[in-house]
Amino acid sequence: MSPTRPVLVLALALLLGGCGDSSNSHPSVNATRGQYLVEAVLACGDCHTTPQANGLPSFNPSDFLAGGREFDAQVGAASFKFYSRNLTSDKENGLGSWTDDQIKRAITTGVDDQNGALFPIMPYWAFGNIGADDLSAIVKYLRTLPPNANAVPDNTFNLTSPAKIIDASSVPHTSLPASDPLFASAERGRYIAGLMGACISCHTPTKTLDEPVDLTRAFAGGQLFPLGPVTTVSANLTPDATGLLGWSAGEVIATIQKNQERGVGRPLCPPMPAGPNRDGDMTPGDLVDVANYITTLLPIAHGPFGCTDAGVPYGLDGAF
Ligand code: HEC
Ligand code: HEC
Repeated sequence: MSPTRPVLVLALALLLGGCGDSSNSHPSVNATRGQYLVEAVLACGDCHTTPQANGLPSFNPSDFLAGGREFDAQVGAASFKFYSRNLTSDKENGLGSWTDDQIKRAITTGVDDQNGALFPIMPYWAFGNIGADDLSAIVKYLRTLPPNANAVPDNTFNLTSPAKIIDASSVPHTSLPASDPLFASAERGRYIAGLMGACISCHTPTKTLDEPVDLTRAFAGGQLFPLGPVTTVSANLTPDATGLLGWSAGEVIATIQKNQERGVGRPLCPPMPAGPNRDGDMTPGDLVDVANYITTLLPIAHGPFGCTDAGVPYGLDGAF
């Protein structure tokens, strides 16, 4: 069956501002670190690769990150088509003729090489606080991708200005006191899950086109991903009864590594990037940090949310 398209539902309005403030950075600015971030932490390939016939992203090196995945999104009452871009080093159709600074600007501010605004399906608004060294590492890795001439269709809608970048100060801190032995780990998790944008972009309720997520309810879930006949709703990750109350850090880690819902064992529904080739390949240290962070957020009541067809291993039948 032909893959159906996810529709990201973004309401239209306008609101307050915020500015990116990059803080954390990592010592190793190299392509290996960049590959790790692209593949195992930020799941760029899920969007920037044309899906296979079964709807799941292809990990075939010949089309990985060559773009072309189609997205439908609503702007007001109308629906438009958007296509993820070719990130390979092809000069004509990829990033081969872009400067490093242009690539960085696109990833973190949503402005492309022609000064055009990117549509916020691309989570640049959540990537805006990636540390400078990590950003350089991502660009170094993208430069290693062999050229792929895949030509991506034009979008059917052009935005006049990009969405606002998440203000780092509105990404919640762990509720642990600084004296707690897990404090430093949880704050490293804040960088990965929140400032880098690995989890906050999907696990926060949507707000407006201009300010894509409602940061007063960061990590409280409720973002809709209509995927063909079924709508998946992102889970509330805060330790409230409607979210992950009672989950240990180890249970969070096992869920992400194995892509199995706690207690039930069913695979999580797309687009949750759990399991091998995605967040399941995060280093044990990074997983511990993320789990220590989300299990120590302040609880927010919202939900519960999940797949609407609970129990069905949805996503393996071509519906992603
Ligand atoms: C949720 C889906 C999604 C994810 C995740 C995502 N992107 Fe994108 N990206 C898109 C879409 C869609 C566009 C095109 C937006 C437009 O044309 O307005 C895009 C555009 C871009 C562009 C602009 C390229 C051009 O030719 O204009 C760059 C660079 C980019 N993405 C890099 C990345 C990197 C690096 C990552 C991971 C760190 C990433 N993206 C993760 C969906 C995504
Ligand atoms: C592309 C969007 C997306 C990203 C990125 C994402 N998630 Fe999810 N996540 C979801 C959706 C949607 C669900 C609901 C899936 C389901 O119900 O089967 C989910 C489910 C989960 C669950 C299971 C909750 C439960 O009640 O069973 C956990 C735990 C989780 N995510 C943690 C994370 C963490 C931690 C990160 C960052 C490392 C992350 N997610 C990144 C979309 C995403």
